[in-house]
Amino acid sequence: MRGRDRTIAPCLALFVCGCAAERAEPVDPLEGPSDPVEAARAFVADARVRRAALEASVAVADTPYARARLDHYSLSGTSSASARPSPRPSPDSGRGSLVPSSSDPIADWDLAPVLEPTVRPLRVSRHEVEEAGPVATLAPDADLAAFVAAGRDAFERYPVHIDPRFAVLREGREVVDRHGLDVREDGTVRGAVEVLVPDGRWLVALTCAACHGATTANGDYVPGLTNDRLALSELLGDPRWAPGTMDVTGDAIENPVRPPDLRPIRFQERLHHSGNLANGRIARMVRIDTLLAERLAFEARPDRSIVAAISLYLDSLADTSPASPLSSDAEAVFARSCASCHRGDSRSGPVVDVARVGTDPLATSGARATGGYRAPSLVGVADRGALLHDGSARGLRGLLGLEPSEHRGHPFGTELDVADRELLARALGPR
Ligand code: HEC
Ligand code: HEC
Repeated sequence: MRGRDRTIAPCLALFVCGCAAERAEPVDPLEGPSDPVEAARAFVADARVRRAALEASVAVADTPYARARLDHYSLSGTSSASARPSPRPSPDSGRGSLVPSSSDPIADWDLAPVLEPTVRPLRVSRHEVEEAGPVATLAPDADLAAFVAAGRDAFERYPVHIDPRFAVLREGREVVDRHGLDVREDGTVRGAVEVLVPDGRWLVALTCAACHGATTANGDYVPGLTNDRLALSELLGDPRWAPGTMDVTGDAIENPVRPPDLRPIRFQERLHHSGNLANGRIARMVRIDTLLAERLAFEARPDRSIVAAISLYLDSLADTSPASPLSSDAEAVFARSCASCHRGDSRSGPVVDVARVGTDPLATSGARATGGYRAPSLVGVADRGALLHDGSARGLRGLLGLEPSEHRGHPFGTELDVADRELLARALGPR
């Protein structure tokens, strides 16, 4: 496993030079300091920490996504001249309607002003005056629990996609439901807020929870789980994307994907369906920081302590995600047919060439393209509805050929006899 390789190499280096006693343990730039709060503080305060994590994270694939970030992210933290900004293509695709455009991106996003959005809940029946305020606040001496709590707040309330077309969500419960969002018991909409914009208007915005939070059949809200019901295409008045999918890149190529289950985020060997980023605690913070900067058209940036809080909150979701120890029979089948890609306890793996995995190749074009898809972590897979990067497989039974499914590719396991496939589906599937 990657984690193991990383810890062994530095130990050997120390052993060889014999200076372990004098020197602090070398820090993996992707992970940062081993204490999460220390990592958060280093990410917030030190451009070199952010820059080193970015460089290590994008090193696994040369993509336009990576280059835009190398050109603009935490430049003061770079030690090499290779990071001089180069002219970048306009992020506006004219088609990828989730990506705002900027005519004049700020050379170093660190210098962009910090945006502190004022939000209030979106309510389907408006009969009370709402408390408006900041998304979340963190004391300077916040501990891990405080970071995670602030992150949970921001996950539910940070205005990520602000769009006048979302105003239809004000029309009431039925419209909210039709577009795939839920109304909480107190009448507020989950996954959407109202945000105050500079001209004094309140606009409806989607939060992380709109795409990365779902209510299960028995009514439990599961943060991190993909919201398969979200009908974003319809919400934007544009029926191009299949339900539950969306194009979140501004690369002028129509390649909608499904929001991944974020609960196992810290177990993923790579980030994104295409696996164009190496993963690590600081790398995830950088990923979220640049996501929000991009949403702000690179003219402003989020408060970094909130970014760190969201990231530590997501890391904490792995503890809520059902671990599925397999019976020894199922484990043996899994080891034979699946574990070469879905490796170790995390059951996640590297990028597999699209010619080999055989799933829809569309998302191997565009800003994040690597020519393949990562093997995603299977931790928590029992709760997922639509599977694969484009959501084309309906559940494990569909993927394993036990039930009809529209997807193509991922033939792995379908060669097994029915009894073994049933065994796998039961072991990994819903209890
Ligand atoms: C409009 C829907 C939408 C919203 C809102 C949204 N995301 Fe995502 N998110 C996606 C999609 C789609 C992807 C997959 C992108 C890819 O793989 O290229 C994704 C991917 C991610 C990933 C990488 C996951 C992985 O397994 O590699 C992280 C982390 C993430 N989002 C965090 C967030 C956070 C934090 C927020 C709120 C600040 C947020 N997202 C808001 C749609 C959304
Ligand atoms: C050769 C590598 C490889 C093998 C072997 C393999 N997988 Fe996968 N698996 C992948 C890749 C790559 C993806 C992502 C494909 C995509 O999104 O288009 C994937 C996706 C999945 C998904 C969808 C997860 C999600 O959240 O979308 C499931 C479930 C899965 N695999 C289960 C299995 C099982 C069970 C086996 C053994 C029977 C197996 N895989 C064998 C590479 C592999």
